[in-house]
Amino acid sequence: MDEKTNWVILNKYPFELLPGEETVLPEGVKSYYHYLNEEPHETGKNVQGIAWLIRDMPQGLTVVDPYGGVGVFAVAINEILKPAQFLIGELDDGCVTQLKHTFAGKNNVKVFKADAREMFAAPNYPTGDLYVCDFPRFTLRRLQKEDRWGPELRAMLGAKPRALIMSDGSAHLNHFVRRAFKKLGEPVGDTYEDFVYYASSYFHQYFGYSIAACAYHGNCFYYRLEPVEPSQIEFLRLKSGSYKEGLKRV
Ligand SMILES: C[S@@+](CC[C@H](N)C(=O)[O-])C[C@H]1O[C@@H](n2cnc3c(N)ncnc32)[C@H](O)[C@@H]1O
Repeated sequence: MDEKTNWVILNKYPFELLPGEETVLPEGVKSYYHYLNEEPHETGKNVQGIAWLIRDMPQGLTVVDPYGGVGVFAVAINEILKPAQFLIGELDDGCVTQLKHTFAGKNNVKVFKADAREMFAAPNYPTGDLYVCDFPRFTLRRLQKEDRWGPELRAMLGAKPRALIMSDGSAHLNHFVRRAFKKLGEPVGDTYEDFVYYASSYFHQYFGYSIAACAYHGNCFYYRLEPVEPSQIEFLRLKSGSYKEGLKRV
């Protein structure tokens, strides 16, 4: 897009998007401009999931969002949770410029450019009460097979936050994903929700955190991990037609 565009997040919060283009980052990941330029409906569903996952959390926390994108989630989080301190990292220069534009004058927010992979490998990585990780291309299988995102998750959860919210793209074509897990002999049942219970046990076994709540649609799960034993998970299924409730161009 060549001009500024105006949006409303969650029917309440105004959002001005500077002109910008997607870039391709290491590992073939696209910066978030791609999603707003091409797939705002996905973001509209996702941000509703985030709002639901944080709805009962207290205000005044320290929140860390290491994959800030253009800041749609960050605007919602800043408005709903009013963090005492909100640290937002991002690797792509265009997204960092956009984030700085959105949060100019907000004294509780610090925007910085960082490669999360390097940042969480360093000893003085940012710690907080809540991490919100909209990972580019996380899947549970990649975590299990290649330990991709494992070092980052171990660092963040090692800081003992009260919760970590994260995306998992395993919802995409989840029936095939479940079939593949079953072939490997893993105890995965027949539904999206069965998959999330399986993921919860896995996270608990390897990270000491389990899934307490999950918002999802046909492309993505958003989990809220907490330092508790696996038990009943609260679910919200985001309906495909509902995206404008999350993000609307005006
Ligand atoms: C799914 S998007 C996040 C979108 C965000 N939730 C929003 O509301 O705009 C993931 C972001 O992670 C960024 N990213 C990719 N690799 C990264 C890395 N190693 N460190 C930090 N950010 C990275 C991408 O540029 C992309 O903007």
